[in-house]
Amino acid sequence: MPKLKLPKPPVPDALVPRAKRPGTTGKTRPLDVAKESGISAIDWVDERTSLAGAARWMMFRKIPKGTNWFYTLGSATLFAFLSQTVTGVFLAMYYIPDTAGGAYESVRYITNEVFLGEFVRGMHKWGSSVMIILVMLHMARTFFFGAYKYPRELNWVIGVVLLILTYVMGFTGYLLPFDQRSYWATVVGVNINGTGPLVGPYLNDFMRAGPDFTQSTLARFYSIHMMLVPGILAALIGAHLYLVAKMGTTAPPWMKPEKKGDVDREGA
Ligand code: HEM
Repeated sequence: MPKLKLPKPPVPDALVPRAKRPGTTGKTRPLDVAKESGISAIDWVDERTSLAGAARWMMFRKIPKGTNWFYTLGSATLFAFLSQTVTGVFLAMYYIPDTAGGAYESVRYITNEVFLGEFVRGMHKWGSSVMIILVMLHMARTFFFGAYKYPRELNWVIGVVLLILTYVMGFTGYLLPFDQRSYWATVVGVNINGTGPLVGPYLNDFMRAGPDFTQSTLARFYSIHMMLVPGILAALIGAHLYLVAKMGTTAPPWMKPEKKGDVDREGA
């Protein structure tokens, strides 16, 4: 694979040290003091970790001409994921899946008694649909702009896994309130999976944690929903973003190079 030649990221303006203008008094404004202390804090960490270069490499990049609003869909999906993480942490502080009745009762308690509980639960519930819609729109953008082609195939494959895991989050989360709707919807969902060839029945048993829907099914769905899949999602999103930073984003398909090498559809 030919080595990608990436231009060095520029140092952001705020971090360029400025010489004092001749004749200026020694007076410093509170804003300058705040700015200076921010910079020295960053310098302190950088001196001990040398992370500033990596952070600049990740965040300050040149983007191709023609970049438009459709390119924000990936970041919007990331924002939805982070919002789900934060609201999920607060829900987990009150959710008690000790028994089916306990789970139902704790969700009722969150909705009716906890301060802002209904709001946080609503954000988490609607946020899950928002994330699914955004991830599908983002996938459509990368597909129609041809961003799945060489050398970004691996990022597409990681994306497919991210898509499946996002669905798994939606599916496992739906059971957790343990009301009539979530129970029966999950029974239907698990049975559909069971009709799959060869692995279907095994997948069925795995999801139910046995031949029947029991207490263990709820515990299994909860641990998959709040530990296993979020962990894998976070790691894969990290890898996904690393590859985006490494290769840059693809120029829109209608952009033509002004001179050779100007708009490189094969990378940055
Ligand atoms: C949790 C889900 C996901 C997150 C947080 C995420 C995040 C991002 C971000 C922030 C970018 C850079 C900006 C942009 O192009 O929008 C990006 C690029 C990309 N994503 Fe995703 N993504 C996710 C899922 C997916 C899926 C499902 C696919 C496809 C199956 C995919 C394929 C790609 C590709 C190919 C690029 C490179 C785009 C280019 O070179 O122009 N991603 N992603």
